[in-house]
Amino acid sequence: MLYINNLWKYYGKTPAVSGLSLHIPEGDLFGFVGPNGAGKTTTMRIICGLLRASGGSVTVNGVDAINNTKNIKRVIGYVPDFFGVYNNLKVKEYMEFYGSMYGMYTRDIQKISGDLLELVNLSDKNEEYVDSLSRGMKQRLCVARALIHNPKLLVLDEPNSGLDPRARVEMKELLKNLSSMGKTIMISSHILSELSEMCNSVGIMNHGVLVAAGKIEDIMSGQAIPPQNMPQQNIFQGVRLTMNVLGSTDMPVRILKENPMVSHISIMERKIEFTLNGGDKEIAAIIAGLVNAGVPLVEIKKQEKNLESLFMQVTDEDNGMGGDSHEN
Ligand SMILES: Nc1ncnc2c1ncn2[C@@H]1O[C@H](COP(=O)(O)OP(=O)(O)OP(=O)(O)O)[C@@H](O)[C@H]1O
Ligand SMILES: [Mg+2]
Repeated sequence: MLYINNLWKYYGKTPAVSGLSLHIPEGDLFGFVGPNGAGKTTTMRIICGLLRASGGSVTVNGVDAINNTKNIKRVIGYVPDFFGVYNNLKVKEYMEFYGSMYGMYTRDIQKISGDLLELVNLSDKNEEYVDSLSRGMKQRLCVARALIHNPKLLVLDEPNSGLDPRARVEMKELLKNLSSMGKTIMISSHILSELSEMCNSVGIMNHGVLVAAGKIEDIMSGQAIPPQNMPQQNIFQGVRLTMNVLGSTDMPVRILKENPMVSHISIMERKIEFTLNGGDKEIAAIIAGLVNAGVPLVEIKKQEKNLESLFMQVTDEDNGMGGDSHEN
């Protein structure tokens, strides 16, 4: 359905997307996750034909998103990460406006709009002014609007941002509902737990690079296809460890940094966190090394392996998401 191949986007000399390759099959509910500035919005805007790529190819349902920006808009419904101001526009007029942009007949728009507003639970708001709706309602209206021309792919850029917990749940239910109706959906967020509850597959982006992608259960069991530009060590095999020492953390951190199997070290007060590319044998060797060097080790334990810890493991400090970690 969606194929991205070696996609690049430069803003000036800085790459925002660096050689991204990704496939989203038909019917998928795909979560696109990454810290601020990872390149999610940039990628989504290119997919939707709203931004020129610097290189690479994108096709959606066989339509070339890079060279055929007119037709791509017919196969995609886009919910941007901001909601505009719509003074003096009623909900029904808003839907009619967007429908007419796709060259639809007023009669058809009214029928489809009625169905869509029902789907997003806004049937009773038809006559209300758009600007009078709550943020959650506006977001749902935005989804309805994006579906007016029955697109093959629905792209939503952080539809949950700024929503209260109830509105988040409603949005999640709406997207699950759409997914069960067979719609292919791509949704971005920087909160992994939010996506993991509703998506069947995810891609984790960091600094314009896809660092992990696949079905959630495959990522968790280490089966996911390692994406492009993967670091030499396989992130899926690593274990995240937390360690407490007495006194200064300088020496243990220095010892860890010298170990080629250790990466993504972060220090929070007395607690040192790091990723070890190995299993119990390597953990035992680390403990022996530290104790032999005279480090007063109080505790060392494995972190539970979940998507959240994987996210922390593959994204890093420049984004303010991973503590003050240091790569090898
Ligand atoms: N119009 C622009 N001009 C220059 N740089 C830009 C522009 N838009 C984005 N960038 C840069 O490109 C990088 C990726 O930004 P992008 O908005 O795609 O990230 P994001 O993953 O959507 O982040 P967020 O979670 O904050 O929405 C960032 O470093 C950003 O500063
Ligand atoms: Mg964004």
